[in-house]
Amino acid sequence: MSLSQSINVGIVGLGWPGERHAEALNASALGTLYAACDLNAVRLKAFAGSFGPKRLFTSFDEMLLDPDLNAVVIGLPNALHYPCSLRALQAGKHVLCEKPPTMNAEQMRTLHGEARNRSLIYYFGRQMRFSPAMQAAKRVIAERRLGEIYFAETMWIRSRGTPAGVDGWFTDRSKSGGGAMIDLGVHAIDAAWYLMGTPQPRAVSAQTYQKFPQLVESKVFDVEDNAYGMIRFENSATLLFKVCWAANLTDDVPPDPKRGRSLLSTTVYGPKGSLKVTDVFNINSSICPSPLALFEDKVGDLVKTDLAVQDLRGVRLRAFEFAEQDTNFLRCIRGEESAVNSSSQAVQLMEILDAIYRSSQAGKEVPVI
Ligand SMILES: NC(=O)c1ccc[n+]([C@@H]2O[C@H](COP(=O)([O-])OP(=O)(O)OC[C@H]3O[C@@H](n4cnc5c(N)ncnc54)[C@H](O)[C@@H]3O)[C@@H](O)[C@H]2O)c1
Repeated sequence: MSLSQSINVGIVGLGWPGERHAEALNASALGTLYAACDLNAVRLKAFAGSFGPKRLFTSFDEMLLDPDLNAVVIGLPNALHYPCSLRALQAGKHVLCEKPPTMNAEQMRTLHGEARNRSLIYYFGRQMRFSPAMQAAKRVIAERRLGEIYFAETMWIRSRGTPAGVDGWFTDRSKSGGGAMIDLGVHAIDAAWYLMGTPQPRAVSAQTYQKFPQLVESKVFDVEDNAYGMIRFENSATLLFKVCWAANLTDDVPPDPKRGRSLLSTTVYGPKGSLKVTDVFNINSSICPSPLALFEDKVGDLVKTDLAVQDLRGVRLRAFEFAEQDTNFLRCIRGEESAVNSSSQAVQLMEILDAIYRSSQAGKEVPVI
C-alpha cells in the first residue's frame, strides 16, 4: 500500500472488543474505520452512533465485496473466526482476528498458509502483550536481569465469572470450541509464553473440569470452567497454568466487583531473579500493589523492587493496549514493522491448546504435535 494512504478497515462483531478496535482506529492516522457489520441491528445502530463508520452491513460476505475495504477486524464468536478469516483472506483483505485465533491448530495452519501465499497479514488479537507492564517486563528480560528463564507460572482465575455472550455462546462448545481454557487460558498462557521468548512447546499434562453448572443460565453448558496443567518446552523450561471461570478461591486472590474474586498474573523465574506481572484490574489491592515486581538475589538476600512502568496519564489501559496493537497491525500492512502477534505464533498457541484438551481427555501427558 502507498504510505500516504489510510487503510480502510471493517469490523465484524461489535461487542466489547469490536468497540475497542473502533476507538483505536478512530484515534489512528494510519487506518480508517471504514465499515462495521453485525447481525444484531440494535448493536449496529448503537455502534454507528458512537463510532461513525462510513458503511454499515448485516452480512459479512457483502462487506467483503467492497473493493475499497483493505482489512477486517473479526470480533465474532469463536467458531466464526476460522471461516470468516479464511473468506476475508480469499477476498484479498488483511485480517486481525480476536482471540482465540481459531478453534484448533489445523484451522490456524490453513490460515497461516493462506495469508503467506497471498502476501496478506493475518494477525491475532492479544492486546495484553502491549501493556506497559508487559513491555517493561520484556525490556528487563532482554537486559538479562533474570538470567535464562527456566520456569513460569501463570493464571487467570475468577471465583464467579462464567461469561455468556450474545445468546450464551461462550458455554456452547459448538460455538466456542471450549470453555475457560480457550477463553481466559489463551491470554494467561500467551502472557507467560511471550515473556519466556516463545520457546517451542514439546509436551503438555493438563486436566479440565466442569464444576459450577449452577452458575450458568445459558441453555447449553458443555465446556470446562476450570483447567490446570503444565507445559514442557524444547529448551527444558516449564510453565504451570491455572485457569478458571468459577472456583471457591481463597482470600489471597483480590476481590473483583463483577466476578467475586479474580487475578490475572504471570511470574517468570531465572537464576538471577524473577519477575511478576499483574494485570491492572487487581492493582491497588493490598494483595497486588504493583503491576511489575522484580525479585533479585543480592548477595544472598532476595530483594523486591516495584518497577516503574509507562504512566498512561488518564488513558484507559485497555484503550492503550488496543491502540498499540492495532498500530502494529496497520504498520505490518504498510510493510513498516513485523507482527508482534504473528500467524506462526498463533499456530503454536493453538497447538498448545489442542494438546491441553487432548491431555485432559487421555488423562496423561501428551506431545504437543
Ligand atoms: N481481546 C480481548 O480481551 C477480548 C475480550 C472479550 C472478547 N474477546 C473475543 O472477542 C470475540 C467476541 O466476544 P464478545 O464478548 O464481543 O461476544 P459477544 O457475543 O458480545 O459479541 C459477538 C457479536 O457478534 C455478532 N455476530 C454473531 N454472528 C454474526 C455473524 N454471522 N455476522 C455478523 N455478526 C455476528 C453478534 O450479534 C454480537 O454482536 C470472542 O472471540 C472473544 O473471545 C476478546
